[in-house]
Amino acid sequence: MALHVSDLTPVPTQPVETRYRRIVTPIPAPGSIAEIERLRKVEPLSMAGLPPIVWDSAEGFLVRDPHGNQWIDLSSGIVVANAGHAHPDLVSAIRRQLDGKLLFSYAFSTKVRRELLERLVSIAPAGLNKAILFSSGTEANECALSLMRKHGLRIAPGKIGILSIESSYHGRTLSAKLAGGPPGLVDGIARESLGHWQLPLPGGPDSRGFGEDLAGRSIDPAMIAGIILEGIPGWTTTPYPAEYVQRLMRWAAQHQVLVAIDEVQSGIGRTGRMFAFEHYGIEPDLITCGKGLSSSLPLAAVIGRQAILDLAAPGEMSSTFGGNPVSAAAGLECLAVIERERLVERSAALGAELSRAIAELAARHAPYVGMHGGLGLFHSIHLKDPSSGEPLREIADKIVMNCLRRGVLMFLTGRGFFKIVPPLTIAPDALFEAIDVIGGAMNEILGA
Ligand SMILES: Cc1ncc(COP(=O)(O)O)c(C=O)c1O
Repeated sequence: MALHVSDLTPVPTQPVETRYRRIVTPIPAPGSIAEIERLRKVEPLSMAGLPPIVWDSAEGFLVRDPHGNQWIDLSSGIVVANAGHAHPDLVSAIRRQLDGKLLFSYAFSTKVRRELLERLVSIAPAGLNKAILFSSGTEANECALSLMRKHGLRIAPGKIGILSIESSYHGRTLSAKLAGGPPGLVDGIARESLGHWQLPLPGGPDSRGFGEDLAGRSIDPAMIAGIILEGIPGWTTTPYPAEYVQRLMRWAAQHQVLVAIDEVQSGIGRTGRMFAFEHYGIEPDLITCGKGLSSSLPLAAVIGRQAILDLAAPGEMSSTFGGNPVSAAAGLECLAVIERERLVERSAALGAELSRAIAELAARHAPYVGMHGGLGLFHSIHLKDPSSGEPLREIADKIVMNCLRRGVLMFLTGRGFFKIVPPLTIAPDALFEAIDVIGGAMNEILGA
């Protein structure tokens, strides 16, 4: 399922010049090739899976290279720039923090960290009254998993198991990798040997509902400390069936199992609610978030009830750069922008229009579309071979590259789908111009 490394041979383009898009060179731009090659020389292969362009600046929902090209961004980087790239208020807040000469503090008290934590607690359900800051989503998830194990250990020795959903994504540190990813070994490690078990994708072809799935995997609730699941899975962008999640919550409460919802990607307004779990009418024990929380600098958080967050003793749960003042200032201002500009409501309203436009595209190419769905500005289109049903990995990536040459930016997934996750600030006419471009690329590649 690995992404292939994009070829650096320039492909000719038709000149594009609209209010939002400008393409004036072949892609990759001949002037960018030396830069990309030098980067590839020093960076590992794992970093080479994205379209071959050099970012020079990113502002609002536009990304520019140094060669005169400009794209409408449907990627938000990697679902980060919820408040838009380099929002002027965010830039000012970061600058104020820099000018104030406080770039680092570790766990020494700072006002800006306290303000952000209070804000985070205020956007979570009542009762989730403490929060801690980290630098990456995977770290936040690692913390949530550890807290859930500590909770389990208070109940019984051996109650340290973690349940999660197959093919989800929680990050690249070990517990996060054990919780996410497809069935099979993780770096040669069997999940069960470290107390991790997975369930099939809720609502997916292998799921028969929470109770049956659980019974099918012979999972003993006495061994389970916690469950982690994405608010809405990042790869399907389609919510789980609400009754599945509600049943899971009841089961967890019955067996003293905690539930952590990973909102790193689906949170902070992305799906038309502040957190995606709100669509299910549930209240988790722990929330992890990151990405859109700062829309910029490294910042992640775990929010939960005091009784759970205080399970770690002083000094036992912290991180050198967690809550550093510059990231905290970015997060605080980002949440203020999201509120001031009503971006959660905007994501819901624009998302409803986007759903309709995507449904039309999907209908036009129905034999090739395996799945499409989403809420808010969190959508994807999954392509399949009409006869075998297998994901059309190369074709999906070809559509992304074709769009790139027409001034619309998405990321390559290598998994037979592409995602439409623009900044929540995107202008409606820019969004639908970009959707028309995708339509043109699909016509060209799949046939009109
Ligand atoms: C749902 C989810 N959880 C966790 C992570 C990991 O976040 P980070 O890359 O900041 O460690 C990601 C990143 O893509 C994510 O989408």
